[in-house]
Amino acid sequence: MMDGSARDKDFVAVRHDSADRQVAGDARYADDGLEPPGMVHLALGLSKIAYGFVSGGDLDLIRNAPGVVAVFTADDVPGINDTGPVIHDEPAFALSEETGADVSYQGQCLFAVVADTREAARAAVRLANLEYSENSPILSIDEAIQAKSFLSEPYRMARGDAGRAIDRAAHTLKGQMEIGGQDHFYLEGQIAVATPGENDEIHVLSSTQHPSEVQKVVAENLALPLNTVTVEVRRMGGGFGGKETQGNLIAVAVAMAARVTGRPAKLRLDRDDDMVLTGKRHPFRVAYEVGFDDSGRIEGVKFEQWSNCGWSTDLSHAIADRAMFHADNAYYYPDAEIISHRCKTNMVSMTAFRGFGGPQGVLGAERMMEHIAHHLDLDPLVVRQRNFYEPADGPGERVVTPYHMTVEDSVTEKIVAELVQTSDYETRRKEIVAWNAENALIKRGIALTPVKFGISFTTTFLNQAGALVLIYQDGSIALNHGGTEMGQGLFQKVAQVAASEFGLPLDMVRITSTRTDKVPNTSATAASSGSDMNGMAVQDACNQLKQRLADFLDKDELLFENGMVFWSGGRKKWPDLIKEAYMNRVSLAATGFYATPKIEWDREAAKGRPFYYFAYGAAVTEVALDVLTGENRMVRADILHDVGKSLNPAIDLGQVEGGFIQGAGWLTTEELVWDNTGALRTHAPSTYKIPTAGDRPDVMNVALWAEGQNRELTIKRSKAVGEPPLMLGVSAFLALQQANNAAKDGWVDLDAPATAETLLMSGG
Ligand code: MTE
Ligand code: MOS
Repeated sequence: MMDGSARDKDFVAVRHDSADRQVAGDARYADDGLEPPGMVHLALGLSKIAYGFVSGGDLDLIRNAPGVVAVFTADDVPGINDTGPVIHDEPAFALSEETGADVSYQGQCLFAVVADTREAARAAVRLANLEYSENSPILSIDEAIQAKSFLSEPYRMARGDAGRAIDRAAHTLKGQMEIGGQDHFYLEGQIAVATPGENDEIHVLSSTQHPSEVQKVVAENLALPLNTVTVEVRRMGGGFGGKETQGNLIAVAVAMAARVTGRPAKLRLDRDDDMVLTGKRHPFRVAYEVGFDDSGRIEGVKFEQWSNCGWSTDLSHAIADRAMFHADNAYYYPDAEIISHRCKTNMVSMTAFRGFGGPQGVLGAERMMEHIAHHLDLDPLVVRQRNFYEPADGPGERVVTPYHMTVEDSVTEKIVAELVQTSDYETRRKEIVAWNAENALIKRGIALTPVKFGISFTTTFLNQAGALVLIYQDGSIALNHGGTEMGQGLFQKVAQVAASEFGLPLDMVRITSTRTDKVPNTSATAASSGSDMNGMAVQDACNQLKQRLADFLDKDELLFENGMVFWSGGRKKWPDLIKEAYMNRVSLAATGFYATPKIEWDREAAKGRPFYYFAYGAAVTEVALDVLTGENRMVRADILHDVGKSLNPAIDLGQVEGGFIQGAGWLTTEELVWDNTGALRTHAPSTYKIPTAGDRPDVMNVALWAEGQNRELTIKRSKAVGEPPLMLGVSAFLALQQANNAAKDGWVDLDAPATAETLLMSGG
């Protein structure tokens, strides 16, 4: 059954498993458990300066404050005092009372206060009496370049001789843009609850996308073996990448508190602290130099990318790599060079955010396409179409990426052709060009942009997943896997896989929380590969159980359908078969495993096949811009997205729609502002503007591509959907770019986010 050929009829548009409970307010989050008597609460002491030294000072005022139970500094951590996920360059608590602290960003965690109540902890933390001596911080990509402050040497990917190709081209262009970061703005903030057990055991309920890493980090900081620490996640109120590593510190703090006090401990960050303390999407600068012919076809291109990584490494290398992997987006570059600089600054450590660097790379490519079209006075769509990777069934001439992977599955051309029809692009564009010629005060723009997104962790070993499937005596099933639920619908999809395998109704499959003591050594639920990998691991476990049942009945083949099990010449009801198998001592529990095939990546040579396959989609967005105020809105958006054969069209549509809006928000209204001392000034919804329901385009047509089909063997030939649609929001930005060009009567280098202020003040 490992042919991915699960039954179509089982993969229907059932709603998210906790939709009803979420609407009613009784879906349980980490903060919702009853607080046991004796629970202690934490607050974190944060640095007031961005860069410099904090002398040990005096925390006794805090120790003596009402309700305070303990204060933790670096001196109290029994283990490594570090929460860095890849490289250990992130102290959990920076401050030592003996030797002080080097601080690297404003908001860095110096120490923790443990108190009887949350209010007491938060009040006491303010009493810190610390002396700061400040150095001048590095607060931008420019300042990092000037100070030669980088996390590593530049990294380069190349194919052919881009310089020569550009020199020989009929036309050349250079351009550059600044791309802002983004706050995750998950509705549930960072939180963890730790409960001490016997024999050094500790249980941590964490809002994390990566339970196994929280387990490891807690163990390493408490100097305990991994088997003493159990991490559990039922669901998150959104993660978006912001809970891939950023929960580490919170979990370490509560685990220490639980261990030292012997009492259960909770830390729920205040929203403002959460925004100041935790990482965001990497701000980028992207520069391009491109050579192309009269038709807009690219001959050679050089990209240079600078990412603002903040003060520590975190996941920045993988993120900056992914930005490079997506500097081509859906386009074939005959000769290409991509160089990446990872800037180290005195700012919060930037982290994973939906698309993981990919969106910044894609935006660079799309901005360049728009620029070429403007230069040649062509419809940008035509320029794009001339540069697409060849379709899957083409002659194979324009298929190799700058990292030497062959694109075998491109459906960009087909999707775009269909979307051009359904969105009435041609007519609307003509009408908009005419409108702009006649109207001075409202300018309009329409942009169609595709996305091609590589699916797999580019750190190859991470592409593994495990599952645990338990059948109980009554035939009901409990399902566990390494993936976490953050709203994306993973649990429902994976439950559908199990129900389909056994031919049972969905309500016989219970989805249980993710626990490191049930499925070990898992990867983060990230890179959009949650359903691909965990779905396959669950299928593997189901197959083993089915084989055992076949062996028990001594049949070659069983058919599982409608709660019945059939074989040639006989059948049984599922519960009867299970009862019988149990009575005959057949094991009804199985662990499943999956490792993504075919992928390999040689980072040194910058060559290989880092991705199992690509996900595709396209969007057309139309905007209207008020020339006098810069105010603007999305008037209409049409989206066609390829999810292969959908595991659940309702959930997939939600992912596409949400991803698009989140991408558009990133590039239009969500502006992060740090002042010249390094303080984040946009640390609450009052100043940081995510899209609201009212920002939804007046007309929004979202469709899953009917022909979608994964060429590779995935569950039911589905495709990952979590991140790719975010990049469809790029069409909103480029539509604004066009409207702004029309307003200013010429090409304007527009930076992102294109807020009303930016639009008003740019160019002209
Ligand atoms: N959708 C919701 N509702 N909430 C989220 O936090 N995270 C996104 C995406 N969709 C997210 C979401 C990110 S960053 C990723 S990597 C994927 O979901 C992870 O889940 P998957 O691998 O199961 O798609
Ligand atoms: Mo998603 S940024 O890979 O958590």
